[in-house]
Amino acid sequence: MSGVNNYKISVIPGDGTGPEVINEGLKVLEAVSSKAGFKYETVNYDFGGERYKRTGEILPDSAIEELRKTDAIYLGAVGHPDVKPGILEKGLLLKLRFSLEQYINLRPVKLYPGVWTPLKDKEPKDIDFVVVRENNEGLYAGEGEFINKGTKDEVAIQISRNTRKGVERCVKYAFELTSKRNKAKKLTLCGKTNVLTYAWNLWERVFYEIAKDYEDIKTDYAHVDATCMWMVKNPEWFDVIVTDNMFGDIITDLGAMIQGGMGIAAGGNLNPEGVSMFEPIGGSAPKYTGKNVINPLAAICALSMLLKEIGEEKASDMIENSVIKVTTKLKSLAAGKMGYSTTGVGDLVVKNL
Ligand code: IPM
Ligand code: MN
Repeated sequence: MSGVNNYKISVIPGDGTGPEVINEGLKVLEAVSSKAGFKYETVNYDFGGERYKRTGEILPDSAIEELRKTDAIYLGAVGHPDVKPGILEKGLLLKLRFSLEQYINLRPVKLYPGVWTPLKDKEPKDIDFVVVRENNEGLYAGEGEFINKGTKDEVAIQISRNTRKGVERCVKYAFELTSKRNKAKKLTLCGKTNVLTYAWNLWERVFYEIAKDYEDIKTDYAHVDATCMWMVKNPEWFDVIVTDNMFGDIITDLGAMIQGGMGIAAGGNLNPEGVSMFEPIGGSAPKYTGKNVINPLAAICALSMLLKEIGEEKASDMIENSVIKVTTKLKSLAAGKMGYSTTGVGDLVVKNL
């Protein structure tokens, strides 16, 4: 027995610029694996808009069972200009999140040194928090109906489903994460208790029940609108934020902007008891596809998160430290303005490992 870990990593490059940024991530993976001393094999899946157009198939159930048996999934981007919005998002991305029970969407909001932020006078020490977004329920459950569709009396109903089990496992995860993080040990529940009095009443009760088991953690509550305000005005107030699927979707786009943009923002869809999936959170960026101008750092940061989750902490840190060196060398993190090409940035990360 060699004692060297050998991982099986599923790769779904997906649409648009997905394949370009995933290529750079795989380049970094190869380099970091030899330095950190682990082995891996990748299994490539061509799911996405092109395959859907060719075959009509988005994600066969057999693939879900295959993916379930691997150690992690590395995803590029989902969304194709010729495919009606919603089809691939629901059929691929959301289907994976739901069927693999990736109930946490983890989105670090961290400003690296030298990175431009639109927030005046804010520095890396001020912008360093994590959003724990519930990833399987809420408005994303897709429940609802039309009444009198197409008539003047039409009503569209969209239901937010929040189960106690779903809320509990999410809130518990957030408390655990807060206690492991070496920061202010503060967990903020972001909700809307003043208006959405069913959903957020449940969240609030669960939050304060679980808080009793974590005496060292300061609890805090902010309405989602106020959260947006504080993220811009006083981002240093946050350590960990926990919220539902829809609010988490919205505030993490704001988070991505204050940490320097979609060029750097990464996220993980976690099933702490199963297989997790990591992705840059920006979309497929059709405008930049095939031009070698998209920023691969978000995908590379997603790889760093992936390695941390499967237990390769050292490799994960090596990548993050290299990214920190590379961000100071780029003119901007925006596509086409980096002063380097996509592959050039990937090479820089490899060189600085
Ligand atoms: C995200 C995306 C997805 C979401 C879309 C593409 C379905 O915006 O990962 O944040 O809404 O969750
Ligand atoms: Mn989103």
